[in-house]
Amino acid sequence: MILIIDFGSQYNQLIARRVREARVYCRIEPPTISIDTIKALAPEGLILSGGPASIYEPDSPKVDFAIFQLGLPILGICYGMQYMVHVLGGKVRRAEKREYGHAQLKIRADSAIFRGIEETTPCWMSHGDTIIKQPRGFNIIGSTANTRISAMEHPQKRFYGLQFHPEVVHTPRGKAILRNFLFEVCGCKKTWTMKSFVTQAVREARETIADGKVILGLSGGVDSSVTALLLHKAVGRRLTCIFVDNGLLRQNEPEQVKAVFKEHFKMNLRFVSAKQGFLGRLKGVQDPERKRKIIGRAFIEIFEKEARKIKGVGFLAQGTLYPDIIESRSAFGGPSAVIKSHHNVGGLPKKMKLSLVEPLKHLFKDEVRQLGKTLGLPEDLIWRQPFPGPGLAIRIIGDVTRNRLAILRKVDAILLEEIKAAGFYKKLWQAFSVLLPLKSVGIMGDQRTYENIVAVRAVNSTDAMTADWARLPQTLLARISNRIINEVRGVNRVVYDISSKPPSTIEWE
Ligand code: XMP
Repeated sequence: MILIIDFGSQYNQLIARRVREARVYCRIEPPTISIDTIKALAPEGLILSGGPASIYEPDSPKVDFAIFQLGLPILGICYGMQYMVHVLGGKVRRAEKREYGHAQLKIRADSAIFRGIEETTPCWMSHGDTIIKQPRGFNIIGSTANTRISAMEHPQKRFYGLQFHPEVVHTPRGKAILRNFLFEVCGCKKTWTMKSFVTQAVREARETIADGKVILGLSGGVDSSVTALLLHKAVGRRLTCIFVDNGLLRQNEPEQVKAVFKEHFKMNLRFVSAKQGFLGRLKGVQDPERKRKIIGRAFIEIFEKEARKIKGVGFLAQGTLYPDIIESRSAFGGPSAVIKSHHNVGGLPKKMKLSLVEPLKHLFKDEVRQLGKTLGLPEDLIWRQPFPGPGLAIRIIGDVTRNRLAILRKVDAILLEEIKAAGFYKKLWQAFSVLLPLKSVGIMGDQRTYENIVAVRAVNSTDAMTADWARLPQTLLARISNRIINEVRGVNRVVYDISSKPPSTIEWE
């Protein structure tokens, strides 16, 4: 495995992605990690990441100097390289001006890290400070027009420094450079596969849970579904999945969860039908935040009540992913697993004093999908688009009633069917419909109609932080609109949402 020391760069997760794509396991840890923990992790090499600080700032991040005495290869990137230069006796100059953007790297010496790379290759720079003298024993192996020491190596110690960012797409040969570090320098083996992960995760879960019992809030989303499959493999029926049908789900969702997890995988699934409770509490509520709070609170109540019925539960499983862990850690300075309040089943149930089990906490989303595939999860669930915890309630603007839910469900089913048939489902971040609290006049046959308006929203995004409305083909939009108006009684107008996030959000409420 490779250990990445997190000096705070926005690109850190990309470094980890690149290493894992090369089939080498890696972990990102804060610079406060102790040397004993590093030794216990037994990495084959270290990567010191970039970061926004200048090594001259008094509280710039530092890592134990003993890492340089472990005899392990070390690659410093950007701030990581400057840090290395600074503590090993070289010289870094405070910059007056940042260097940012494309540059041409000229490789100046034969080095393991540049094996197979062309003599001149584009690279991406993003730094303030500059190295003016490398530490003793280091050779300069690459320069750009503005940065004489863009790459350096200490071949005996196997220490490397890169001022540019090999992990970003703007450094086209960056993947190859990182692979050289992993395989030519560190001698890593390509052992990181989903099969090996399953073996290890199952073993760890068995050790943790021992002969105890564990509960999991199953939503049918990919994260909780994969968590369920993995833990079922580890502890069988000592895992109880609780699925709450809040009556705010899309067409066929509750039935599908039952069919997949209870009937196909033979899991211990508690299917709680709570439609009445949710709808009753939402009666007359129009304010989006109040809707969210009511639904969140009702969910916790029902989940706790169900959980209490299972005697001797000691563990609560959650489908927390690696980006959540890294982000919450960077934001709060400590490695505590803060659970996002946004999450559907986050932070449950505090009063029961359960220990958390989070078997996916070192995986990225695409790895979770691969894992789902390895564990036999149906394609439908593997590729399911994100769906908010409060469900259709926040896609029905205004009053949420049984009748309005039925309309939106039909509309949404048609939309998704057409999006899938046109091959867009996997490409889009989300596609959904919103029922507006407005009516408009139309004409059907010879009759005047006065019916509901539905908005269709489809967005592209990589992380939901920003999103752009999808430029769907007009023929597809035409088919969607035709089918909705013809097939769903009560709708006579369809509009397409052409707003991006920011300033709009993805969901309407
Ligand atoms: P917004 O509307 O904030 O949504 O741009 C960003 C992403 O988060 C999803 N979303 C939720 N997911 N519980 C969730 O699990 C929620 O309460 C919730 N609200 C929004 C939304 O679908 C989008 O992908």
